Amino acid sequence: MKIAVLKEAASHERRVPIVPDSVKRLGQKKIEVVVEAGAGERALSSDADYTKEGATIEATHAATVAAADAVMRLRIPTLDEVALLKEGSTLFAPLLPLVNHDLVKALAARKVTSFAVDFIPRTTVAQMMDVLSSQATAAGYYAVVLAAASLPRFFPMLITAAGTIAPATLLVLGAGVAGLSAIGAGKRLGARVEAFDVRKVVKEQVESLGAVFLDLGIRGEETAGGYAAELTPEQQAQQQAELQKRIAGMDVVITTALIPGRPAPKLITAEAVRSMRAGSVVVDLAAEAGGNCELTSPGEVVVRENVTLVGYTDLPSQMAWHASQLLSRNIATLLQHLAPKAELTLDWADEITAGACVAGKES
Ligand code: NAI
Repeated sequence: MKIAVLKEAASHERRVPIVPDSVKRLGQKKIEVVVEAGAGERALSSDADYTKEGATIEATHAATVAAADAVMRLRIPTLDEVALLKEGSTLFAPLLPLVNHDLVKALAARKVTSFAVDFIPRTTVAQMMDVLSSQATAAGYYAVVLAAASLPRFFPMLITAAGTIAPATLLVLGAGVAGLSAIGAGKRLGARVEAFDVRKVVKEQVESLGAVFLDLGIRGEETAGGYAAELTPEQQAQQQAELQKRIAGMDVVITTALIPGRPAPKLITAEAVRSMRAGSVVVDLAAEAGGNCELTSPGEVVVRENVTLVGYTDLPSQMAWHASQLLSRNIATLLQHLAPKAELTLDWADEITAGACVAGKES
């Protein structure tokens, strides 16, 4: 199997899905890697680093695609990019198949066997392949770093000759993978951390990290896949009202609440932002799905009501080195699982194949 690593068209994307270290490991399993020249540069991996580990470099996008039988993408491909894929080839990419129906149809029409890396089942067996988790870990950590850099106050408690400084208060909304990572990073920086999630099981996880679980009196349902189900309109209104009472006391709020295939739930109203102290910070990790805060501007940092609202949609990319390293380990494990003898074998009894393969030669 030969897999192509392409330069991403999105100008702000710095990650690369396969790093030189994984090229060597895949090579030992007879899986070859073809890299478009410069694809790893923004993640600090040069073409020379790749060739040293056994990869082949091609000068152009078209030549890279032509030289391989599978393509690995970091971002959801456009329909134009699908048209450039070889008929009958294989694609690994995030596809958001629940909402991108035209994309899945276009891939099926081109007979491209397509694995949605965002649809790998969240099971123990697949944990090493879970790109959502590895990238959410990076995003949660970096949200805290950005918040600390934007906040004109200290995170830890300090006892100085000039007086004692109380620790910053950090509220994390949505304590899935990104939220738990943010809680851990916030605690390590010395903040007093509280967190809320609609899933019941999360309380114990929050407390095991030394944070306080904020009881808003709202319990949501969990779907079979372990994700949160959308709250009813009444519960949503109750959540906004309860949060509004508590947000005024927070220096930083990091929001990560998502419902697969749905717009991000609105948790923080404009009025709640208005109630925060001047200089406080909201980092909205759900910005790409519309944001958890009414005043978030996706992709930007804005100041509203004297509160800094961070709406970046590319946090893992902003820490490209480690985000790429983790991603690459996920992808290398996935490739070895799907192609144990260096040839792709579609075993529909395998839950990873059945869960992630959304279009194929046979469809
Ligand atoms: P996600 O990114 O879809 O959502 C983030 C968090 O937002 C979730 O914890 C969700 O419960 C929460 N949320 C949704 N609506 C909310 C609301 N209105 N207010 C507050 N919070 C709200 O979730 P993520 O982080 O990708 O994890 C999804 C599930 O997969 C979780 O159950 C997680 O434990 C599980 N998982 C399992 C793994 C494994 O067993 N290998 C690996 C990773 C995740």
